[in-house]
Amino acid sequence: MRWSNAAGRSTCSAYDFGKKMTSTSDFMLAAADRPGPAFQRPVAVWLFALTALVAAMVLLGGATRLTDSGLSITEWAPVTGALPPFGEAAWRAEFEKYKQIPEYGFVNWGMSLAEFKTIYWWEWAHRLMGRVIGLAALLPLIFFAARGAISRSLGLKLAGVVVLIGAQGALGWWMVASGLTERVDVSQYRLAAHLGLAVALFGLLLWLALDYSNKRRAKPLKLAPWAATLSLAVYGQIILGAFVAGLRAGGDYNTWPLMDGALVPVGYFAEGPRFLDLFETVAATQFNHRLGAYLVAAAAVAFWLAARRSDIAPVARALALAVAAQAVLGIVTVLNATPIALGLAHQAGALFVFATAVTAFYGCVGEISMRKPSSSSG
Ligand code: HEM
Repeated sequence: MRWSNAAGRSTCSAYDFGKKMTSTSDFMLAAADRPGPAFQRPVAVWLFALTALVAAMVLLGGATRLTDSGLSITEWAPVTGALPPFGEAAWRAEFEKYKQIPEYGFVNWGMSLAEFKTIYWWEWAHRLMGRVIGLAALLPLIFFAARGAISRSLGLKLAGVVVLIGAQGALGWWMVASGLTERVDVSQYRLAAHLGLAVALFGLLLWLALDYSNKRRAKPLKLAPWAATLSLAVYGQIILGAFVAGLRAGGDYNTWPLMDGALVPVGYFAEGPRFLDLFETVAATQFNHRLGAYLVAAAAVAFWLAARRSDIAPVARALALAVAAQAVLGIVTVLNATPIALGLAHQAGALFVFATAVTAFYGCVGEISMRKPSSSSG
């Protein structure tokens, strides 16, 4: 394996992205993690495409959950499972396995083979896409590394991403396994872990793609810690959302702003204060998610105001607007008791909000060209 040097070349000439390098630090900042010019565009396209694939995968996972398809494949076969059942006998055998799990007996009793095939195809497509993403990360990584097209540091980070993609597959099975014996759905904790790792992978890849395609600032903006905190807050809000989704809590308390006539729902800590109730009752998970949204919205507006004179003002404004739109979409979703289309749109909105937050954070440490600063840059 040949790693490129910091500049992605075998010689030491300054690679300057079309601009003249004025100092050694300029050179070091621009050169980090970038390959030689021949591979610059393919690597950038690959990183952004991988980010988009992970986003599509999250949405496919959401559709699989919202169509109640996630438990239809009762085994984990990472290699042979890539092929769907062939022929009537194979389909019947799969259906028989499904009939052994509680979900069939309590929720889908009497389901036809044709109906079973529909939920099977959702879950199969979700798993297949996981394999595709693994290969789409691994194979180009091997190719680019073998050609000396990426730096050692970027190669190691991307190898970490490949490991995380594999771990996400195992986590997905661990989640599915929680719904195969004693329950009719999966554990909300495992669902939150599965969604959490998926969104973390999405954010990580987006960061690497942005960092690869842009130059680092000589000095980060003072807003950087705030942008980092806001990104973490959005991430936390997404995890709270996973608990709402995992408990199907969006089917209850379909009023806003009050929940069953009260600001704090009566069911909150119904059994007395017990920490785990925060993650195990419909009332608490939904209330926490609503509260989280208000806090994130307030923080996003404050960030926008603080950033309005900096050169990241456009992305800060986009973030505040995206959070507001997402909150409105969440309200419409809960008022309608979470139909599939709204649930999916809300999940896509969450990814958009998170992508905007990560971009705002990156904009504090890297030079994403947006517009010229009006005065000092934060
Ligand atoms: C910053 C704002 C928000 C973000 C980032 C966010 C994010 C999320 C995420 C990631 C999920 C899980 C989706 C899934 O796994 O399928 C979710 C679920 C949900 N959220 Fe939000 N949310 C926000 C605001 C709100 C608000 C204000 C409400 C309602 C008042 C709301 C209501 C819901 C409901 C009902 C679900 C369950 C949907 C389902 O079962 O698929 N959200 N949210």
